[in-house]
Amino acid sequence: MTTNDEENILHRAALSPRKMTKITMVAALAFVLVAVVTGILVKLLLFSNDENESSGHECVINPFEVNPHPLIVLSKGVDWIYPIHGENVLRFKQGTSLDFLCPGRQIIINNTQTEKDILTGQCISDTVFLIDDMHVEWRTLICGDFRRSIRDTGNSCVGNGKELITGFETDDGRFITALTICFNPQLEIAYYTFINQTSTINQRVLATPRPSFIQGSGIYTIGSATSYYVRAQQRATINTLVGLPENSTKYIQDSGNYFLSRGHMTARSDGFYAAQQNATFYMQNIAPQWHTVNGANWNQIEIDLRDYAEASASDLQVYCGVYGVTTLPHEETGDEIELYLFVNSTHKLLPVPEFYWKVAYNSLTKAAVALIGMNNPYKESFTPICEDISSNLSWFTCNSELVKGYCYACTVPSFRKIVTTLPDFPTKQLLT
Ligand SMILES: *[C@@H]1O[C@H](CO)[C@@H](O)[C@H](O)[C@H]1NC(C)=O
Ligand SMILES: *[C@@H]1O[C@H](CO)[C@@H](O)[C@H](O)[C@H]1NC(C)=O
Ligand SMILES: *[C@@H]1O[C@H](CO)[C@@H](O)[C@H](O)[C@H]1NC(C)=O
Ligand SMILES: *[C@@H]1O[C@H](CO)[C@@H](O)[C@H](O)[C@H]1NC(C)=O
Ligand SMILES: *[C@@H]1O[C@H](CO)[C@@H](O)[C@H](O)[C@H]1NC(C)=O
Ligand SMILES: *[C@@H]1O[C@H](CO)[C@@H](O)[C@H](O)[C@H]1NC(C)=O
Repeated sequence: MTTNDEENILHRAALSPRKMTKITMVAALAFVLVAVVTGILVKLLLFSNDENESSGHECVINPFEVNPHPLIVLSKGVDWIYPIHGENVLRFKQGTSLDFLCPGRQIIINNTQTEKDILTGQCISDTVFLIDDMHVEWRTLICGDFRRSIRDTGNSCVGNGKELITGFETDDGRFITALTICFNPQLEIAYYTFINQTSTINQRVLATPRPSFIQGSGIYTIGSATSYYVRAQQRATINTLVGLPENSTKYIQDSGNYFLSRGHMTARSDGFYAAQQNATFYMQNIAPQWHTVNGANWNQIEIDLRDYAEASASDLQVYCGVYGVTTLPHEETGDEIELYLFVNSTHKLLPVPEFYWKVAYNSLTKAAVALIGMNNPYKESFTPICEDISSNLSWFTCNSELVKGYCYACTVPSFRKIVTTLPDFPTKQLLT
């Protein structure tokens, strides 16, 4: 725009003199020619400067170029930063002050270990940041260690629940939260877990190494929670409850998917960064889920919700919880017996939930939905706890095959009438 105006001004200035002689006309023409050429040159120069401006005055980085990169937060901040919807890069304005974090210490810059877990830097341009007076290329910033942790916040939730957070602790006392867990200390299983899910979730990092499950200390009273999921152990526990010989493979089979897996409540794939994905591998984020369901309909519910977030560009608050205790008939009496993975003479803990649920909430539009996945491949019928409105959801593709985990959807107000553990928030409409 500016260059065109300048060019026009030059033209007008050159043509304005009247009553000119032939010589001055020629001179004027030559002048016009020079002016036009100059104008074009100026325009070209300015244009190329403009181009530099759009890439040169901001930083544009691939968050997954090297694994693991430090986490990036705004200076002194604790919030995850995501690409804008539809992109897979992070952009920062020149001069933006950022903190680079490697929780567990050891930020490596250009192959040199710094022994620090936080470095502050500013965006210079492109992939370069100013850190400790050095120009540092993003790809040379790596974490030598990356330690996740779980913490009891001391807050309560759902009455007797303990609020836990998993995430990343820094030397200066910050905690970058990946997951909030409301833990039921009486049954030693979560009531629900919670994440803020970015609309750009389908641009998440893929195929990163899978960490092992850990459980922190001082939260369970039962020792290693994962040990109760070991197939021989769960078989013995369940069989004893329903009056079968300890090693009967009637329910917990040797092959196939008829066993209880360590079902993620917040899915690994619900995390955008590898760090967030790793922070789902806490036993407190796990409940016993039949593997016929885990790898089938429940997985589809998770995919549907991520696809919805991506397709509708919605940042969502996502709660995932468990409800009730599923049953199998006793071999002799035929009575329906509740299933638990931990049983001693005084306590039954780690219940096998009757169903898993997910509630997604868009806080901008106050739209919400509850998705439900039944958790028992041996049951022949289910009664929905609330009116099934899944046909109103264009994005809900889960099919209701029983063995794969009968699934359906409800409005949040109708869901709340039964599942009272869902935290309160205002809803105006269905998340369609
Ligand atoms: C990175 O290290 C190499 C040698 O190890 C050195 O040549 C280069 O200048 C360093 N780059 C920066 C930005 O310090
Ligand atoms: C979700 O976002 C809110 C608002 O930014 C924040 O307070 C909360 O800690 C976040 N929770 C999690 C689990 O990330
Ligand atoms: C996630 O866990 C894997 C396996 O332990 C580890 O190799 C990787 O570095 C971790 N990534 C992050 C970002 O914590
Ligand atoms: C049963 O397990 C619970 C939970 O760990 C424990 O508190 C209780 O003491 C155990 N009961 C017996 C009789 O060992
Ligand atoms: C099941 O347990 C019984 C008694 O301990 C044993 O005799 C039998 O061989 C076991 N069966 C299998 C298949 O392991
Ligand atoms: C679902 O769709 C039906 C038919 O269009 C409509 O009558 C009903 O109000 C919808 N339900 C909800 C909860 O939006």
